[in-house]
Amino acid sequence: MALLLHVLMLFLLSGGSARVVTDFEHECGGFFAGGKSPTGFSGPQYKQICQTLNIPYYATYYDTDNKIPVYSAYRFEEKINCTRKNNWYIEPQLDDETAGPNMASEGSVKKRGDHQALNKDYKNSGYDRGHLAPVYLARSQSCAHATFTLTNAAPQNSSFNSGQWRVLEAQIANELVNQCLKTYTVLIVTGVVPGTEKLKNRVNVPSHFWTAYCCLDNNNKCQISRGFIGENKNITPQNITVKGLETELAKLYKVSSFEVFHSSTAPKLIEKNYRAVMKPPLLSLMLLHKTHPLTEVNGRY
Ligand SMILES: *[C@@H]1O[C@H](CO)[C@@H](O)[C@H](O)[C@H]1NC(C)=O
Ligand SMILES: *[C@@H]1O[C@H](CO)[C@@H](O)[C@H](O)[C@H]1NC(C)=O
Ligand SMILES: *[C@@H]1O[C@H](CO)[C@@H](O)[C@H](O)[C@H]1NC(C)=O
Repeated sequence: MALLLHVLMLFLLSGGSARVVTDFEHECGGFFAGGKSPTGFSGPQYKQICQTLNIPYYATYYDTDNKIPVYSAYRFEEKINCTRKNNWYIEPQLDDETAGPNMASEGSVKKRGDHQALNKDYKNSGYDRGHLAPVYLARSQSCAHATFTLTNAAPQNSSFNSGQWRVLEAQIANELVNQCLKTYTVLIVTGVVPGTEKLKNRVNVPSHFWTAYCCLDNNNKCQISRGFIGENKNITPQNITVKGLETELAKLYKVSSFEVFHSSTAPKLIEKNYRAVMKPPLLSLMLLHKTHPLTEVNGRY
């Protein structure tokens, strides 16, 4: 009982409009398949951000040491023609916990840059500020504006950004319009793998860009899904299963397993395989209770 109350309290306390949050499954879980985020990492450098520009538009898992995101998660609802903006926002709360709850333009933020990339880091670097949640798949003009935040970007080979990556985004959009939008909720996660180089000795240049989509039915199962991954150069990314992508990512992130979409969202056909390893609800609740205060991250529960 005390345990349940404690969990409840945590949920109540985390309400409100703060953007850097301690539990983005709770605050902006609508951007994750089945409400469950991809695998998290432990360490205080990882921050969970509900990307709001007055209202939430997508969720970003950000690495304040490497000053690039691990991934952004978003919904795709329709293809619209958005105008691209040229000024980029930053996330004031990453450098100052008392800052307001919305992304802001760099000039309006006094304390900035210790825990995130700034525009000058990219200047003359030869790398683009490559979007994770893309402008191209934005579901409204204000949503497109909201993608222009440096916490949603990582150094991307500019010929890749304007070449094969852009081609891939367009192919994925067409595929989703044709196969999924009418029937399913479409959830996408786009991420990067840290590399060995840094811009201005500050911002990590990713070795890989990856993305995956899940066409989710009413029972929270990904009925159609696909994963894509490519090195940070202008070559057509590999088109593989989400399972294949997850195996690849576990290797690259050097973790024992990595889930882009939670195992509970696997379609019925192979659900049996997962059931055996699922924990009973009470046990997961205890795990939640135990891990929540210790880490910003929670893997999954
Ligand atoms: C987007 O713009 C293109 C070219 O300007 C136009 O052909 C197309 O109909 C527009 N689509 C929508 C959904 O407005
Ligand atoms: C990826 O491969 C699948 C299966 O072969 C195919 O249906 C899909 O169109 C491909 N998508 C892209 C974007 O290449
Ligand atoms: C970007 O990728 C191309 C090949 O796709 C390569 O020739 C070029 O050197 C790369 N640029 C950088 C800055 O690494």
